[in-house]
Amino acid sequence: MQLKEVLDKYPQSEDYLIEILMDYQKHKMHHDLTEEELKTIAKHLDIKESRVSSVVTFYSLFSLEPKGRHVIQVCHDVPCHVNNQTAVLNTLKTMLNIDVGQTTDDEMFTLEYTSCLGACDKAPVMRIGEKTFMNLTSNKVKAIIAEYRGRKHA
Ligand code: FES
Repeated sequence: MQLKEVLDKYPQSEDYLIEILMDYQKHKMHHDLTEEELKTIAKHLDIKESRVSSVVTFYSLFSLEPKGRHVIQVCHDVPCHVNNQTAVLNTLKTMLNIDVGQTTDDEMFTLEYTSCLGACDKAPVMRIGEKTFMNLTSNKVKAIIAEYRGRKHA
């Protein structure tokens, strides 16, 4: 989705800055925002570029760095941690050959930590994009990653 299409969906008001940023970033293949795009948004909303930059740098959900097509977020809060989250994380690290905070060489996956995903009774939990996976085991993780690798345009 083009930036203009996203901007046209919202009233031309600073009140919608965060919604615009989230909506647009969600549609980008590498889940990042560029300086040029921040300038365009600032101009459209008639606000200072520094205002847009400060919002993007304040909230961890925004990124100025390109990420993999699929961002894997592993919950690292206590309920997941005590339910063998380490095994899940180690399986992901081994399969993807990256550490937390890194992106695979083929730019397909980025591995991140996240705080509670609201499914503590089904720990350990991870999210890929907007899909949440629960009651994870190493074997489940292997099957999930294999499925994502098999997708051509997901
Ligand atoms: S602690 Fe992991 S989902 Fe709540």
